[in-house]
Parts: sequence; structure tokens; C-alpha cells
Amino acid sequence: MLRYTLAALLLLFSSIRVEASCACSPVVIPVHVNVLVPKDPMDPFAGLKSNASELRRVEDTYDVYGVFCQPNSTEKTKNSDVLQLLVHGFSYTSQYWSPPVEEFRNYSYAAFSCAQGPYSSLAVDVLGAGLSSRPANSSDVQFPTASAILSQLARLLKTTNSILPGAQTFKTIIGVGHSAGSSLLTFGTIVDGHQSPFHGLILTSSLSKLNASSIPPVTASARDVDPLRWASLDPGYLSVGDHNIFYPTDPTSFSPRMVLLDDLIADVAAVSIFVQTGTEALTSGYTGPVAKIVGSADQIFCVGIGGCANVTGLTATEGALWPAAKSFEFLVVQGSGHDLNLDFFAAGTFNTFVRLVKQFSGL
Ligand SMILES: *[C@@H]1O[C@H](CO)[C@@H](O)[C@H](O)[C@H]1NC(C)=O
Ligand SMILES: *[C@@H]1O[C@H](CO)[C@@H](O)[C@H](O)[C@H]1NC(C)=O
Ligand SMILES: *[C@@H]1O[C@H](CO)[C@@H](O)[C@H](O)[C@H]1NC(C)=O
Ligand SMILES: *[C@@H]1O[C@H](CO)[C@@H](O)[C@H](O)[C@H]1NC(C)=O
Ligand SMILES: *[C@@H]1O[C@H](CO)[C@@H](O)[C@H](O)[C@H]1NC(C)=O
Ligand SMILES: *[C@@H]1O[C@H](CO)[C@@H](O)[C@H](O)[C@H]1NC(C)=O
Repeated sequence: MLRYTLAALLLLFSSIRVEASCACSPVVIPVHVNVLVPKDPMDPFAGLKSNASELRRVEDTYDVYGVFCQPNSTEKTKNSDVLQLLVHGFSYTSQYWSPPVEEFRNYSYAAFSCAQGPYSSLAVDVLGAGLSSRPANSSDVQFPTASAILSQLARLLKTTNSILPGAQTFKTIIGVGHSAGSSLLTFGTIVDGHQSPFHGLILTSSLSKLNASSIPPVTASARDVDPLRWASLDPGYLSVGDHNIFYPTDPTSFSPRMVLLDDLIADVAAVSIFVQTGTEALTSGYTGPVAKIVGSADQIFCVGIGGCANVTGLTATEGALWPAAKSFEFLVVQGSGHDLNLDFFAAGTFNTFVRLVKQFSGL
């Protein structure tokens, strides 16, 4: 009960970040998708290797919740044509890009890029998470559905001028992902190939080889993790009660209060969002520029394999999966954990993101 009350209080006091140089507003965008998903949501290849009898169609219009942040500046610059689509991982929501308490205001990448690019961003809640649609049946939330929503949304943002406040469209959409969010963006490029609506991808905290023994052991059906919040959910929706694995092993490199915040505001994801990260090992025909970034102390990807220190080796193995990409860059943030944005090395990471957005948008 105490835990629930704290969470409720935090949510009550949370508000959407408004920096002096930046205006942010919540948006809900209906997105229609029509995709084939595997009948078995545990299929690690998300249906890409299935025959027709193993697939079923999901066609629906889902509400995508997001927070749109835009620099205040009235003068139109080349940057005004660029939008970053920010895609969170598990067990987060769009709040990963803007932690919802005053104490951690400076960990907001949405605010940072709005001030330092300056670049606009739209941080979305992926299907099933946060305030976006959460289908009653978790098996409707699979990589094909969740990633088609991101691609379709990116197309809408380029072509339809009544979606975001300010009635504008964007020429250049850069996808920025964290963890499962990176995997969803990757999956979209495997499906879309050279027709991907993204002009560049910054993929953090996801590698093609997942060390399965490091999947958080505390991951369980959300209704068991936090019955007060999730009792009525399909057991195929998972949550996690302890977020320490998302932080570096060195306890002096992050705030323990950040982990507490994670535990309090943890959200859910469908089970397929874990198992279908297997698609990261497939080759993408994407033709834009790609950067992958991990923290050397990422307990899921780098600890136990020498801190991802072999950058040359990783550039070769990860880059081989993007043979058509305009460029491929692999970066390791020394000391950082899985949640690159939330530890004491985040400021350096934010500068790297902004540099890459500038490079990818050709400015
Ligand atoms: C930017 O816009 C926000 C929201 O409209 C406002 O609160 C803030 O004062 C503005 N800042 C500047 C420098 O104009
Ligand atoms: C589809 O694949 C399944 C499993 O591999 C197999 O049992 C089935 O015979 C296949 N069906 C067709 C029509 O190829
Ligand atoms: C979820 O949908 C699948 C596919 O239509 C179906 O097989 C399954 O029984 C449904 N699960 C529930 C709990 O309704
Ligand atoms: C997987 O991670 C565990 C725990 O961090 C580690 O002990 C093990 O060596 C890793 N295995 C591989 C193959 O990297
Ligand atoms: C780095 O990885 C490459 C390719 O896997 C390998 O050939 C090389 O020996 C590795 N270097 C070190 C220092 O482990
Ligand atoms: C935010 O401020 C705290 C306290 O000064 C600092 O430890 C942390 O590294 C800062 N985070 C970022 C992303 O700048």
C-alpha cells in the first residue's frame, strides 16, 4: 500500500517538463496498422520465418500517446525540419526521456536536445505501455504490430500537418531507441528496407546477441509484480520489481533514488517484446545511417563479455547486420549501465546523441 501511495503521489506531482527554451505538450495520435503476427507470441523471429499457416492478421487503429517538445524559437531554421522519435524500452514509458520528478529534471534528453540542438522530439509510449492503447489480449502486442505503429507514425509526421501542435510536418525523422525500443526500430527497418521512413537511427542498449542469463530474474506477470496496479491485466503483460540490473555494477555511478523512482513508476510490456528481440540478429536492408551505443557496465549486454571493450570486433559483428546502411558507427560509453540516460554519465551520452542527430540530418 505504501508503495502504491508513493507512486500515486509521484504521479500527482509529475508534470510535463517545460524548460524555458522549450514547449512540451501531450498528444494522442490514432495510428492504423494492418500486419501479420505469429500465432505463437513466443516466436523469437516474430513471424519473419513463418509460413502462412503460422500467422494471423492484426488490423486495428491504436492510440499512441506521446510528449511533443519543441524549441520556442519562432524563427525557422534547418533544425525545424528535424524530429527525433524517441522510443523507450522495458519497463519504461515516454518518461524514460524525461524522468517525471523535479530532482531528476536534468536527466531529460527531451529538454537537453530542445535546448542544445535545438531539436524537437516526440517521445512515445509503445503499444501496450503507458497511456498508449493496451490491447486486452497481450498477444496482439508483438514486434510486427508495435514496430509498424512507429513506422506508420513516422510517415504521418512527414505528410500530415494537423497531428502535432503548430500544424507542421517534418522532413527528417531520426529514430532514437533504448533497449527494446531499439529492437522495435530495427525490426521496422527489416520489414521496410529502403522504404523506411527514418532518416537515421540511434540505437542504444541493444546488441544482436542477448545474453539470456542476464534477463532480469525479477521479471514476472505484471499482475503478480504489482497487483494493486495491474491485477486485471492479461498475464502475458510483464513488469519488473527491481531495476538494479539496469544500472552499472559500481554503486557510485548512479543515484540510488533513480532506481527507486524506476521501481515506483515501472510499467508493463507484452512477453513478446522480450522474446522477439531475437530479430536483432537478422540482417536489415536499411539504407540510412546507423549508430549503436552501449554502456561498458551494461549488465545485460556487456558485463561478463569484457565490458564490450572490443569495439573493433563489435563494430564488425553488429555492422555486418546493416550491409546497406549509409554508415555504421559503434560506440561504448565507459562506465554507463543499461539505462544510459539515467546514470552519472548521461550528460556525455546526450551530447553524443545531439552530435549524431546533427550528422544524420545532414546539418
Ligand atoms: C517557451 O514556451 C513555454 C510554454 O509556452 C513558456 O512557458 C516559456 O516561458 C517560453 N520560453 C521562452 C524563452 O519564450
Ligand atoms: C508450416 O510450418 C509448420 C512448422 O514448421 C509445419 O508443421 C507446417 O507443415 C507448415 N505448413 C505449410 C503449409 O508449409
Ligand atoms: C488472444 O488472441 C489469440 C489469437 O486470436 C487467441 O488464440 C487467444 O485465445 C486469445 N487469448 C485470450 C486470453 O483471449
Ligand atoms: C552472461 O551473463 C552472465 C551474468 O552476467 C555471465 O556470468 C556470463 O559469463 C555471460 N555469458 C556470456 C556467454 O557472455
Ligand atoms: C576483437 O574481435 C575481433 C573480431 O571478433 C577479433 O578478431 C579480435 O581478436 C578481438 N580483439 C581482442 C583484443 O579481443
Ligand atoms: C544532474 O545533476 C546531478 C546533480 O548535480 C548530477 O549528478 C547528474 O550527473 C546530472 N545529470 C545529467 C544528465 O546531467
